Amino acid sequence: MAPKAGKKIIFSGIQPSGVLHIGNYLGAIAQWVAMQEVNSCIFSIVDYHAITVPQKPKDLRDNIVQTAKIYLASGIDPEKSVIFQQSDIAAHAELAWVLNTITNNSDLAKMTQFKDKAKVDLDEYEVALLSLVEKDILGGEEEIHRELARLKGMKSKAEIMGSLEGIVRMARRTAFGASHHYFKEYRERFNRVGVGLYDYPVLMAADILLYDTDAVPVGEDQTQHVELARTLARRFNGRFGDAFKAPAVMIRKESARIMGLDDPRKKMSKSAKSGYNYIALTDDPRSAAKKIMRAVTDSGSEITYDRAEKPAISNLMSIYSLLWNISLDEIEKKYRGKGYGDFKKDLSEIVGIFLNDFQKKYNRIGDKEVKAVLKKGAGQLKPLADNKMRVVKEKIGIIL
Ligand code: TYM
Repeated sequence: MAPKAGKKIIFSGIQPSGVLHIGNYLGAIAQWVAMQEVNSCIFSIVDYHAITVPQKPKDLRDNIVQTAKIYLASGIDPEKSVIFQQSDIAAHAELAWVLNTITNNSDLAKMTQFKDKAKVDLDEYEVALLSLVEKDILGGEEEIHRELARLKGMKSKAEIMGSLEGIVRMARRTAFGASHHYFKEYRERFNRVGVGLYDYPVLMAADILLYDTDAVPVGEDQTQHVELARTLARRFNGRFGDAFKAPAVMIRKESARIMGLDDPRKKMSKSAKSGYNYIALTDDPRSAAKKIMRAVTDSGSEITYDRAEKPAISNLMSIYSLLWNISLDEIEKKYRGKGYGDFKKDLSEIVGIFLNDFQKKYNRIGDKEVKAVLKKGAGQLKPLADNKMRVVKEKIGIIL
């Protein structure tokens, strides 16, 4: 694929790690469909990212095919855009390795997604440590005061010294006990997570930088990762000379963060414990309706958009607005004087229409077609990727 003259290069991807939901669709894929008309778009199925958490090989194979079908059913047109499987192009892993060598631990330890998944957060650890040490020392303060009072009545130097040493020992013991407790807990959590999960954003930076990407359309949760790609592009260029373009992140405000139906304070997620968290693109409309009717609601009864005060109904309104192409104001007007029940019933219908239409297209796509599309995509990209790797190898000094 030669990038079309004057067109921007767009790159994005999704992990084939389970069901895709309407959060993935509205946050990412729906944006992509519109973009392919005026840009050179590359959409990846990032299977090497998916294996950063354990995957059963058979499920992974199925999920790769399913994700490609979802791209096609959503309207990504392989005549206009490139669709490919990440592992088909070895340069992704190769560039990730080179980028690893210019990435600092501090670049990765701050990633919120890693902190959430691994529950390893150095900042939180430090705060907890400080507060615990403070609490314990304060807790021990009474004893210290008692000891100090005793000190006042003492006459001999030896007695005073003994008491002071006791105080110091006590303070040292509590401080050590607290920090050791936290250190042990942190070490256990850190040892439990895989290196791949930690290093995942570097592979994502490699995906993006390999193709001189101008912009990366994603949901809000990926902003920090795209930022890292920018940082690494600049750092590499600064050290070795220009090789990479710094990409921009592209987020559609209205769909940046679709929240869970069972908990509107957390994003809709395919790794959620309960199926009531998300509407999968492969859910049958009846079960999707059940999930919507059971979705958490806010106090009060008005259908008004207010993310801070009414996060649950606001989230449902966003989904309604995006799928039905109607503004939030219009929705508010339409449901003035009506209750959550009426609104949810209509939303169930809208989601049902969307899913029916989507699944009709999805079911028409065969596995053979998918494999041919992916093969063609990899064939189009390989020369670009190889070319970029040649430049990188030249710059870092390993081509003889
Ligand atoms: P992934 O597979 O977790 O999610 C795919 C896309 O869906 C968006 N998304 C959401 N948007 C709105 N609301 C939600 N609740 C929601 N949940 C997910 C994500 O922001 C993402 O755009 N690391 C990436 C995959 C990746 C990638 C890349 C993306 C690998 N390499 C290069 C862009 C460019 C990920 O895990 O996305």
